[in-house]
Amino acid sequence: MIKIGVVYHSVSGCSKALAEAIVEGIHSRDGCEGVALEIRGEKIHQGRFDDQALLRQLDQCEAIALGSPTFMGTVSAQFKAFMDAASERYGDRSWLDKLATGFTVGSHFSGDQLATIRTLQVFAAQMGMLWVPLDILPSQDPQGRNRGGCQSGLVAVAEGAGEIHELDRLTGVQLGRRMGALAQRFSGSGVELPG
Ligand SMILES: Cc1cc2nc3c(=O)[nH]c(=O)nc-3n(C[C@H](O)[C@H](O)[C@H](O)COP(=O)(O)O)c2cc1C
Repeated sequence: MIKIGVVYHSVSGCSKALAEAIVEGIHSRDGCEGVALEIRGEKIHQGRFDDQALLRQLDQCEAIALGSPTFMGTVSAQFKAFMDAASERYGDRSWLDKLATGFTVGSHFSGDQLATIRTLQVFAAQMGMLWVPLDILPSQDPQGRNRGGCQSGLVAVAEGAGEIHELDRLTGVQLGRRMGALAQRFSGSGVELPG
């Protein structure tokens, strides 16, 4: 069984709903298990994220989807605290070559969500992870998924407090399915990774 973590922070529930959609997509692949892991504010003390159990769960995952709401054009403070806490894994390279992708939501169509995705991409690069972009061409998708046309990751626009658009949800399902497929391909290739 290939385990994929979906780690996210959410205040009003949109990022949580996107995380659940990604988990649904992961589960749609036989042999893949998605685990949603929420970053909780009460696990942050004096600015430091201290949920070692969550970090250890991510250690066990072959791939990780990273999700944060867009707050002031970047990740939330809580998500940033998680990123800083992962720096131990930066030092020991223990997340090296895990697959990574990212998702975010904002209130506006062009509310600088891409800056959040870029932050998540740079974080993945710092950790030595391999970024998976979205594979939905918006102009050619019969369902109209990836309605914002972002290829770097899943960018959603909130419908209201805690509510996501059905097309954003379906985009999340596809992103999860793709992560599952790629994690399977990657782990089953038999090709040794460079040491
Ligand atoms: C402090 C704060 C800053 C925000 N900044 C942005 C922003 O830069 N761009 C944007 O589109 N939406 C912004 N929003 C709206 C949130 O991204 C939006 O409410 C989102 O749905 C929150 O995600 P959540 O439901 O997972 O908590 C901001 C909201 C708050 C509270």
